Amino acid sequence: MKPENIILNLSCAERSHADQIRLATARESNRTRRYKHSSYGTEGKPGMKFTRLVCTLILGGLTLLLLASPPAAQLERRPNAEQRINQLLARMTLAEKLGQLQQLDGHSDGRFKDEHPDLVRKGLLGSTLNVRGARNTNTLQRIAMNETRLKIPLIFGFDVIHGYRTVFPIPLGETSTWDPAGVERAASIAAAEARAAGVHWTFAPMVDIARDPRWGRIAEGSGEDPYLGSVMARARVRGFQGTDYSANNKVVACAKHWVAYGAAEAGRDYNTTDVSERNLLEVYFPPFKAAVGAGVGTFMSAFNDLNGVPASANPYTLTRVLRDEWKFDGFVVSDYTSVEELMKHGTAADGAEAAGQALSAGVDMEMVSRLYGKHAADLIKDGKLTQRNVDEAVRRILRIKFRLGLFESPYADEDLERRVIYNSSYIAAARELAARSMVLLKNDKQLLPLDKNVKSIALVGPLADSQKDMIGSWTGDGRAEDAVTLLQGIKTKAPQTKINYARGCDIPCAETAGFEEAVNAAKKSDAVIIAVGESAEMSGEAASRSSLDLPGRQLDLVKAVQATGKPVAIVLMNGRPLTINWIAENSPAILETWFAGSQAGNAIADVLFGDVNPSGKLPVTFPRAVGQIPIYYNYMNTGRPPDAANKYTSKYLDVPWTPLFPFGFGLSYTQFKITSLNLSAERIPANGQLTVTVDIDNVGRRAGEEVVQLYIRDVVASMTRPVKELKGFQRVTLSPGQRTQVRFQVGAKELGFHNRQMKFVVEPGEFKVMVGPNSAELIEKSFQVSVP
Ligand code: NOJ
Repeated sequence: MKPENIILNLSCAERSHADQIRLATARESNRTRRYKHSSYGTEGKPGMKFTRLVCTLILGGLTLLLLASPPAAQLERRPNAEQRINQLLARMTLAEKLGQLQQLDGHSDGRFKDEHPDLVRKGLLGSTLNVRGARNTNTLQRIAMNETRLKIPLIFGFDVIHGYRTVFPIPLGETSTWDPAGVERAASIAAAEARAAGVHWTFAPMVDIARDPRWGRIAEGSGEDPYLGSVMARARVRGFQGTDYSANNKVVACAKHWVAYGAAEAGRDYNTTDVSERNLLEVYFPPFKAAVGAGVGTFMSAFNDLNGVPASANPYTLTRVLRDEWKFDGFVVSDYTSVEELMKHGTAADGAEAAGQALSAGVDMEMVSRLYGKHAADLIKDGKLTQRNVDEAVRRILRIKFRLGLFESPYADEDLERRVIYNSSYIAAARELAARSMVLLKNDKQLLPLDKNVKSIALVGPLADSQKDMIGSWTGDGRAEDAVTLLQGIKTKAPQTKINYARGCDIPCAETAGFEEAVNAAKKSDAVIIAVGESAEMSGEAASRSSLDLPGRQLDLVKAVQATGKPVAIVLMNGRPLTINWIAENSPAILETWFAGSQAGNAIADVLFGDVNPSGKLPVTFPRAVGQIPIYYNYMNTGRPPDAANKYTSKYLDVPWTPLFPFGFGLSYTQFKITSLNLSAERIPANGQLTVTVDIDNVGRRAGEEVVQLYIRDVVASMTRPVKELKGFQRVTLSPGQRTQVRFQVGAKELGFHNRQMKFVVEPGEFKVMVGPNSAELIEKSFQVSVP
């Protein structure tokens, strides 16, 4: 990166070919004359309204008509694949076709089940999940390749979410790096390990937007923002797949859970969702569309129902949007038994109806339940399903098997597996990314970093020495015994320091018997570190919580230790935002470390002792109280925006309306100043480009990295628009005293939205550009988009 002049070209830098919005002919609509308010802050003053011509440029409805085909490389290397698929389809019996649509579960330790070999032999099984390890997969694959009529290889799937054996931070933590290159690297390491272990297909990335931290699976995604979520979706797909996932260090990725699974009502996992078309288009779809643009090979249909139609039987999302509009040509796998669950949803009376609904809607492969195999033949006979439905599903699955190169190279290399897995360069990468994922939430009087020569440190808390909790949920083939705890990390980092360790309690911390020992440890130490938070299994699937407080009596432990008057740094470990008001007010230093993976303890020590200057930023808002949820930065203004001086505005009686920590927030051991916001023009046409520049100075005493964030607001529009939306960010590295200029390019893609007719448009009028180190501390300027 060239420090003096950093250019983020929003039109290109993070945009794959499929995201290139095509400009439709500008069309002036005389019919859509309407009122616009004069400026931000004057809402509701009728006298200030004036009429304007609406709409200008119609950018394609076009978000939905994107060219979203996979990178050419995935296709070109197998030019005759479609022909070979046709030949296979012509030879396959219906039973063999349905076999390709069936995925069954193996044992959790990677072995296949006793029934699998025979099913494979008969052509009745096309895929497994959880079967892994080169030996296991090769054994089953040999049966497919040597003992079946058509020699169609199996595809082995597995949840490689944030690492295979080398475990990286949970995805929410990875996203806190705001470093797509680092996240891509983590995914590519996970892919290399997984492929070497015989896995072809990861059920990742999870790209569900989540605005409700009660939902345990917020840990598995990229948080609340569609732009950041899209950047990370692309990075992960690129990392897993590369440009050719037939390579022996790549796997095919799976965008999940299609769609709106993160909108589960009340944050309760698997719950119903009700999301407007606009919010689908502008909040929940974008990361999926970004994944398609990056060439993702598969999708997973979600458990939830969406506006009354189960996501695993939804022709609108599975066929109209995904296939017809986005031109996705890979396959869709159901979530675990989600086809069978259509009966519980109450849209299918029996297994046959469930199979018919899912398959005809566009779910190609059935995970675990076995309704396709059981009922599809009768459904075809009865005219409820067509042969074509089945053939197309088989075609899509075979296409991905061809792209994976499985027909030519079906086997894993057992030697490679031994060499690749958990090698030292991967471990170093995990440590580096983990350190970058940490978010410094508070650091009064520069308590951190700690001096390595400090004589004694009390290390307190249930998470200070817990290997299993370091790696979080969905740990692939990761091992707790690989994980470095904070206690181990600190001992290695400061070998001459006396560490007085006291757990205090176990999570959920119901007992206080160990508190005294913790207090005594603090009393005899020069500095205190308290590691508190959630246990790993408190987030992830089926791990919703109604309280976001520190579980059990952990806060009491913190209070008791802090009462000693010793300087205390809180190290948080958790899979979601927590409500930590007391700590935020009373503890001098707070470091959010999420679940940082195999190298957690070393990475946290790197940050605590200043070998790494923290630069992570929150990808999700921290509420003050559960009652504020959903709380997210890109909210609508309302007709009565919060105003401390006016009771009748949008706020609470018992808690401020603002978050505890805003989206995008994170401190550094140095200080940055962002100034001189400059726009290249005061007015641009709707299809024009605006260059935005700011200066950033490192005004502190250490080298550090800052993430400069760009937000946009359409001040007056034909629809209510969010008060701000992230549209770009740039990481900069600066030495003390160094200044650089950061440049953003803003165009139609950043300015447009879906109007009442669901067309993507850029409307004329005033826009605000806001730049800063987080979503709350911004400098701003306005410009106009002119009436055409
Ligand atoms: C259920 C989860 O929802 C999904 O994310 C996962 O990939 C499958 N189980 C397979 O493990």
